[in-house]
Amino acid sequence: MQTVQLGKSGPQTSRLGLGCMGMSGMYGPSDRTESLATLHAAIDSGVTLIDTGDFYGMGHNEMLIGERLKGGLRDKVQISVKFGAQRDPAGGWIGYDARPSAVKTALAYTLQRLGTDHIDIYRPARLDPNVPIEETIGAIAEMVKAGYVRHIGLSEVGTDTIRRAAAVHPIVDLQIEYSLVSRGIEDQILPTCRELGIGITAYGVLSRGLISGHWTAPSDATDFRSQGPRFQGDNAAHNLALAKALGNVAEAKGMTTAQAAIAWVLAQGQDIIPLIGARRRDRLSESLGALDFTLSQEDIAALEAAVPKGSAAGSRYADAQMAHLDSEK
Ligand SMILES: NC(=O)c1ccc[n+]([C@@H]2O[C@H](COP(=O)([O-])OP(=O)(O)OC[C@H]3O[C@@H](n4cnc5c(N)ncnc54)[C@H](OP(=O)(O)O)[C@@H]3O)[C@@H](O)[C@H]2O)c1
Repeated sequence: MQTVQLGKSGPQTSRLGLGCMGMSGMYGPSDRTESLATLHAAIDSGVTLIDTGDFYGMGHNEMLIGERLKGGLRDKVQISVKFGAQRDPAGGWIGYDARPSAVKTALAYTLQRLGTDHIDIYRPARLDPNVPIEETIGAIAEMVKAGYVRHIGLSEVGTDTIRRAAAVHPIVDLQIEYSLVSRGIEDQILPTCRELGIGITAYGVLSRGLISGHWTAPSDATDFRSQGPRFQGDNAAHNLALAKALGNVAEAKGMTTAQAAIAWVLAQGQDIIPLIGARRRDRLSESLGALDFTLSQEDIAALEAAVPKGSAAGSRYADAQMAHLDSEK
């Protein structure tokens, strides 16, 4: 496994990270035994960056990871945790809380669930509109000083918030959606991160499966994708035609559709680490196969001709969720 430094002040991590969200209900039911096996296989293959959120399955995802890391695996990985999204007992989404007291409470519970004494990268999942970012980052910085957190990251915030946060404490990475069909960061956010030495951990590299070559419509209303604008009706048909065009270019290069989508993100810079959302070992090994390909400028041009910038139909979240994205303002 290749390794890279996360941002200019962050840890050395694997070139691809594993995002564990899909193992805790966000994409409908998942298989616990297979999830644990996937985590194990990822670590065995040299994946060290493991991403979660305390709200993924309301603690379920952290407990799953904690279980897998028992018995000596904790020190082989860097754990990245998002906090702040509030949920009710039925799983409903009820806003964000990133006040300093909420930072410390959430962190205390997260450490227990993961069975660890520190988090490698801790980040607010979204900007809390009621709390200045300086207060949130200041509280995490206190936790860095106290030894409970090693590094601070951000998620889905725009350039003004990035600069304000970085003025309080070094920021190692911004977690944000980035793929052939979601290239919004290229104009302002990515250049700002590069100027400040902040890495990118890219999610949605396969557009949540839509451009993976394995898409099947969700059968479960709890699957996030059953509500996403890109997955509905005409939008889905248009976007799947883009995936097909991507697949044709990929096939000519001896790659699968998913590998081409991941390789394209890898080719955008050593400072961008794709987070793979695999919850099965076969998906994981397909994704890791992307590391075997180095795209030429001609390959990149062919992929971008198949999926031109801005060609996806539908926004990346429904309106209510888009309203929480500081990165889209
Ligand atoms: N900061 C944020 O706001 C934010 C938001 C979303 C996610 N994230 C993080 O980023 C991680 C990845 O995000 P994502 O789920 O959007 O990623 P993604 O890689 O775009 O989508 C993952 C989904 O694609 C499908 N898929 C098909 N072929 C695959 C393959 N070869 N490898 C992997 N998946 C394949 C899988 O669905 P099936 O299992 O149904 O086949 C999988 O659940 C999450 O787990 C989470 O840790 C962060």
